Amino acid sequence: MSVLCIHGGTPLEGELMVQGAKNSVLPILAACLLAREPVTLYNCPKLTDVAAALDILEQLGCRTLREGHTVWVDPRLACATVVTEERMRAMRSSIIFLGPMLARMGEAHMTYPGGCELGPRPIDLHLKALRTLGCQVTEEGCAIHATGHPAGGEVHLALPSVGATENAMLCAVGAGGDTTITNAAREPEIVALQEFLNTLGAKVQGAGSSVISVEGGRRLGGGSFTVMGDRIVAATLLSAVAAAGGRVRLRGTDWRQVSTVLTVFHQAGCRVDSRRDSVALARDPHRPLRGVPTIRTAPYPGFPTDAQAPVMAALAAGQGRTLFVETMFDSRYRHVEQLQRMGADITTAGQVALVRGVPRLHGGRVEATDLRGGGALAVAALGAEGESTLAGLHHVDRGYEQLEQVLQGLGAKVHRVEALPEEAHCAQ
Ligand code: EPZ
Repeated sequence: MSVLCIHGGTPLEGELMVQGAKNSVLPILAACLLAREPVTLYNCPKLTDVAAALDILEQLGCRTLREGHTVWVDPRLACATVVTEERMRAMRSSIIFLGPMLARMGEAHMTYPGGCELGPRPIDLHLKALRTLGCQVTEEGCAIHATGHPAGGEVHLALPSVGATENAMLCAVGAGGDTTITNAAREPEIVALQEFLNTLGAKVQGAGSSVISVEGGRRLGGGSFTVMGDRIVAATLLSAVAAAGGRVRLRGTDWRQVSTVLTVFHQAGCRVDSRRDSVALARDPHRPLRGVPTIRTAPYPGFPTDAQAPVMAALAAGQGRTLFVETMFDSRYRHVEQLQRMGADITTAGQVALVRGVPRLHGGRVEATDLRGGGALAVAALGAEGESTLAGLHHVDRGYEQLEQVLQGLGAKVHRVEALPEEAHCAQ
């Protein structure tokens, strides 16, 4: 078990290139099943979720290779139709392989996915979309059995689900006929998936809007692609500067993808600078953050649910109050109890959380409860008085590549201690 030891109170200074986006590379790796020739991916982040996805591709018969941030996938021998429970539980988004497996092999057997504990993570919209495309999908307990090559069709999503949109796109690309997906999710990662598929020879249009059209019957070749910057990691780092003070520029980030977060911190008293391929944020450590108008999470381009925890952690220290309304997941306030252990004054009731800014948080021994909750606790610790120990790094490492090194590069006093459970503490 390892922990992060964070000594709070040091303003962050510097500039860095944000890592490749976890939520973009995962569906792109699943899409490699549709390619008939090798694929090269650049700027592929080193994350445990990415390792899990590569593991699944290998189990399905692909060959994969990583050198630094470049990953090669050779899908030519892909033929297996089973993803074991162990691999399905390794991460929530493993369900994204269902659609491309049906498109490629016409058969898929797997179990319900695992992943971070954000409350019930249903997949009913995924299964309904694949049935609409002409596949037979049956559920037996927590097992899923799917057969049939997709024919194409009119898929309407009751909710603009990111994963269901991606699964429908990937299945539709391998369909015999054309497909239209309505009420599709509009996230930038969906646009990137469309760009990747079209690089391979697909004909997908409309991503970024609520209506996506996919031309069926096309055989995909291979190609190369660069993974976009991770907008949620960028939002987490912006939160860190807001919490600790200082001045940081993040390159490889399209400001439009973090505009809602930039607006919040501008309202809270930070200086922000938005450019096409970078964003910067500065806060005078002697000027406390102010409370801001209600933050209500929503599907893109609304305020991202994944940024809710890190932004809350930053606003926990400051003046004034901020109301959060989490509309996307039932239990996405698991980090609140940990923030309270650091002195935060936060009250939750269902979807609502009221944050009353306190002059300063204090360090403490805290544990990540999920991926973005872990990012939030690192943010809180960077602005807190004294030492903090952050455990539960298996959550953090799913989505933040070498977080301690990234923060060290910005001047933070943080290091990782690899130790046995009873020994995992920071040297005083
Ligand atoms: C993606 O998850 C992201 N994960 C999540 O990021 C992100 O929080 C979420 O989109 C929302 O933006 C990846 O891209 C790998 P959804 P996903 O389907 O696809 C309900 C992170 O921290 N729903 O858009 O699982 C669902 O319960 C992760 O990086 C159904 O009801 O999210 C939720 O309330 C956490 N039935 C809402 O839709 C379904 O079949 C949005 O979920 C599917 C979803």
